[in-house]
Amino acid sequence: METPKIECDPKIVYVTTKTGAKYAMPSHASQQCYDDAVGFPFDQDDVIIASYPKSGTTWTLNIVRLICGMEIKSGSIIESEFPFLESSERKRLDEHKATHKPAFYHTHIPCDHLKLNQKTKYIWVLRNPKDVCVSFYHHTKLFSNLYEYDHGTFDHYFKLFTSGKTDYGSYFSHVKKWSLHANNTNVLLLLYEDMKTDTRSAIKRIANFLGENYAARVSDPVTMETILEKCSFREMYQKMDQFSTVIKDGKCPVIRRGVVGDWRSLMTKEQAEIIDRMTVRHELQHYWEKYADIV
Ligand code: A3P
Repeated sequence: METPKIECDPKIVYVTTKTGAKYAMPSHASQQCYDDAVGFPFDQDDVIIASYPKSGTTWTLNIVRLICGMEIKSGSIIESEFPFLESSERKRLDEHKATHKPAFYHTHIPCDHLKLNQKTKYIWVLRNPKDVCVSFYHHTKLFSNLYEYDHGTFDHYFKLFTSGKTDYGSYFSHVKKWSLHANNTNVLLLLYEDMKTDTRSAIKRIANFLGENYAARVSDPVTMETILEKCSFREMYQKMDQFSTVIKDGKCPVIRRGVVGDWRSLMTKEQAEIIDRMTVRHELQHYWEKYADIV
């Protein structure tokens, strides 16, 4: 008799939060880095780019870097200018803060763990859950060393995603928590779907949020055109080694297809309906009202 195949979950680790709860993170994370990240004293010179994974974080980092005129040093990746909170030691965060003004960081840790304050600037990137689910599935398979999930099927991953059992936990809970702060003056909400529809406006909004000097920079038409070109999917795809150290068979998990509605490539109608119902139950559907035909 044939032995039934048991699908293994992706490899993840659990850290303990300040309330004693267990929180799922990618296997490179450690309790020490998590504690350092959530305990780091951010202030008015700091800007945090925050998102649930696969929401367009790397794209946003690149736009911010271009607005600020930062270069990606040869042999390095964009992350060196935007330390990833949950995988950076305290020493690295302190050094970064001491040498950068403003100092940029990025994270996927939920905002209630971070203890938001009114001085720090937060750029929250949000993307529709169906595309996030499909993108996260590809990401989890491509990062083989981290997740050991090369043979995972989409049906299996879908169940994990909808039950909040992937790293970083439930998408819906993450987004719901950020939603409570979306109207704060020190929070800029960027919707991936808006960024795709009108990248120029997204660039202006980010620059205005960062401050007058940056707004002035992007008001120069030549600078704006350069930023638009360098943050385009095509250009970033060609330079994928500047954005991730993980490139497998020419594929890069953070620059893959870059379209709205890619969920249709893998998700069944029934699966899409499950996510739609969850979106409604969490009262999040209003974010994508404009995009009802594609999202
Ligand atoms: P897909 O996997 O759907 O293609 P993150 O950086 O948060 O991990 O998000 C990765 C997603 O953003 C990927 O989505 C990736 O292709 C997309 N992305 C990266 N750069 C982009 C760009 N310049 N334009 C549009 N989407 C982009």
